[in-house]
Amino acid sequence: MSLNFLPVCWRVVAHWRAIVLLFILACIAFLVAPSDDFGRFELILLALLLIFIASQIFWIRRLIDIGERFIPGRPHRIWLRTVTVVVYLFVFLYSYPEWGLGHVIRAADYQPQSVLIHAVFWWWFVGSMSAFLLVIVFGAADRVVRAAEWVYRKMRAAIHERPAATDAETALQSSGRRRFLERTAVLVSATPFLAAGYGLLYERQNVEVVRQRIRLARLPKAFEGFRIAQLSDIHLGPFTTADYIRRCVAITNGLEPDLIALTGDYVCWDPDAESEVVRVLAGLRAPHGVFGCLGNHEADVGIEDSITRLFAAQGIRILRQERAPIRLDNDMLNLMGIDDGGGAAPMNTREVEGNRRLQQLKALIMPNTVNILLIHYPQCFDHPELVIGLTLAGDVHGGGQLSLDFIHRGLNLGSLIGVPYIRGLYEGKHAVRPVIGGSDGAQLYMNRGIGITGFPIRIGARPEITELELTRET
Ligand SMILES: [Fe+2]
Repeated sequence: MSLNFLPVCWRVVAHWRAIVLLFILACIAFLVAPSDDFGRFELILLALLLIFIASQIFWIRRLIDIGERFIPGRPHRIWLRTVTVVVYLFVFLYSYPEWGLGHVIRAADYQPQSVLIHAVFWWWFVGSMSAFLLVIVFGAADRVVRAAEWVYRKMRAAIHERPAATDAETALQSSGRRRFLERTAVLVSATPFLAAGYGLLYERQNVEVVRQRIRLARLPKAFEGFRIAQLSDIHLGPFTTADYIRRCVAITNGLEPDLIALTGDYVCWDPDAESEVVRVLAGLRAPHGVFGCLGNHEADVGIEDSITRLFAAQGIRILRQERAPIRLDNDMLNLMGIDDGGGAAPMNTREVEGNRRLQQLKALIMPNTVNILLIHYPQCFDHPELVIGLTLAGDVHGGGQLSLDFIHRGLNLGSLIGVPYIRGLYEGKHAVRPVIGGSDGAQLYMNRGIGITGFPIRIGARPEITELELTRET
């Protein structure tokens, strides 16, 4: 292999031991830290930042190495290095709004080159970081295997009283194996780039309709088979376009639900997007109406009041610390909605804000009635004293849009930073696993959302439209 990829893997392991050690220390600190979400979150971010910096240095060097193979000659090399670093810095600064030049794509300013540069940046960001982690794992595993082989040969030689193979003999024996490993290393490190490309170009908008039965023992007879369609985390923006949301609206209407629930985050970071997202969602149709709650992004960009008014003008009712009785024949469900607890409030006031929301929620609950709550992130699900038959929420994007749950449950970005509710149906207090079946107690459904924030990539966390069918049957 011309690029000698396997020795490069070893060099990474040797060079970046300090980074890996810091990462391990951060993980230990994360495990032993007091259960303060802020502290844990910051530690994980620190670890990710360190890995990110290490990975970027590593990949820039590899790009320069590859370039130098094809453009020999010293003057060319200097130019190559300069161009590589300048292009890299430009894309990075242009694409990262907070670290860079404050560039944010506005809804009114969707320019193809802005979208393209963002797409390339995030593809590179996700692919290069994941590939770097795989390179570390691969290089470390290879070293462990080589050490085990060396010990085995020595022991075998001692037992059979034969001299151990010389270095030259060993090198000869292992040359074939090394060639195989080098090719495997290249393939392994290419996989995250391919996966990131797939997540960017296809899975990001590969919507799945998830059908979920919700068993509620006290459901009034008239509501047997009542179907609620849930949409969440719309995030209108350059990568969640109006056309795509219109397609989701058409799919939702095609389900012919009795009621439609929206669980917040209609915009990304651009307050000017509110009119367009409301216009598109106004196409939703259901005989018992379209209801919603607000998400943290509405609070972050300060459009809570204005978007509520825009929705109301289109016949969509945003429930803000309010309830709306849903009547059928002589029976009733109590639909409630509450703002996201905290939102843009400073960290030290979030707990106060969360408690205030909790008290407001208690006042909305109706005893001896099936209560259904719309809330963006379900902090209230940790409170067993609140008897809410069904809570519908979103916010987490199926585990931060990157999830390997199909390999092992909990292998996703959300779980990594300690978020307890990720996707699917949960039951009871502090439930960390989805349940199959129903309950007389509290149930929570976590929708994966249809839009994206941050990187425009979804891997293992397809966009979701949920059809929830209420039933009394056990
Ligand atoms: Fe969201």
